[in-house]
Amino acid sequence: MVILGIETTCDETAAALVERTDNGKGRIMSNVVLSQVSEHAEFGGVVPEIAARAHVEALDYVIATAMAEAEFTFNALDGVAAAAGPGLIGGLIVGLTTAKAIAMVHDKPFIAVNHLEAHALTARLTDGTPFPYCLFLASGGHTQILGVRGVGDYLLLGTTVDDAIGEAFDKTAKLLGLGYPGGPLVEKEALRGDPQRFPLPRPMTGRHDADFSLSGLKTALRIEAEKVAPLSDQDVSDLCASFQQAVVDVVIDRLRTGMRMFRESIGAPTALVCAGGVAANQAIRKVLHRVAFEFGTQLVAPPPALCTDNGAMIAWAGAERLELGLTDSLEADPRPRWPLDRVTPFGKKLTV
Ligand code: KG4
Ligand code: ZN
Repeated sequence: MVILGIETTCDETAAALVERTDNGKGRIMSNVVLSQVSEHAEFGGVVPEIAARAHVEALDYVIATAMAEAEFTFNALDGVAAAAGPGLIGGLIVGLTTAKAIAMVHDKPFIAVNHLEAHALTARLTDGTPFPYCLFLASGGHTQILGVRGVGDYLLLGTTVDDAIGEAFDKTAKLLGLGYPGGPLVEKEALRGDPQRFPLPRPMTGRHDADFSLSGLKTALRIEAEKVAPLSDQDVSDLCASFQQAVVDVVIDRLRTGMRMFRESIGAPTALVCAGGVAANQAIRKVLHRVAFEFGTQLVAPPPALCTDNGAMIAWAGAERLELGLTDSLEADPRPRWPLDRVTPFGKKLTV
């Protein structure tokens, strides 16, 4: 089957065509992502109103390009999928309405995809990873450790109680005047810095749950920066290195706990899978390898373009759901908040 997937939850306008073969393998036929980063850069973060407007302006073109690159027609599709949440309401409305219109006009099944589920299932598109596996999702909007037992069957093992990890990188970059998005810039500075120079906390480490908290770390960094202001180039590098080291120490502690919880409640994972922009960070990637090794499993890291927001992951999640007969009505609402444990599991009717 061939599915069109549409992604508009945040600041990427994306559409893709993905084929799922009868033996469950995936093939990306096209994957078009238009980033709005430059439109939000001067504000140091995503501005919802600007994002919604940019989606309206770009989406038709992005979909047309995805169809043309795949050399496919709407009529030949087996289904149309769009991310229905979680995300910014303006963008969700744009993506959902467009997907529903295409599905209605061409009389195709419509699938309202949970964006987090799409991140969670990407490893099956890229690597055919069998269930159950442990997912570490770390982006600008989300930080979660999940047990992925099957399509629609997720166990939330840990989540952030305040900021997402990518958000903490972005706020650190903003504080130090580095620009947006902050992750890659902080990582680059950190390479030249001393990770031991500033004493920063390692929030939540040692706790029995696998939750994260990043906002205190960000505040501690601001206090350290104020102590040595005005900042020299070396101060900035040392602050970045100390911040990144604190995040790395937190990630390793929280992931070890998450993997232990996985083992106790689900069993042995087939893999530790990472997703989200933060997984591009080499220092974090290194500890993911280490934790996977410690727990006798492998790290599956989809290529960066499929770890960050894209349409192919929405199309693939749509294909996995359609295969199980899980389609949605054209009445499906956008859902700005949509935790994964409220996603319809296979064999059950949606009750919320
Ligand atoms: O998954 P993503 O592209 O978009 C969403 O947030 O949905 O993730 C973007 C986030 C940003 O916060 C960015 O600063 C962070 O991922 N990021 C990084 C790195 N590259 C991107 N964080 C740390 N180190 C990096 N190299
Ligand atoms: Zn995402």
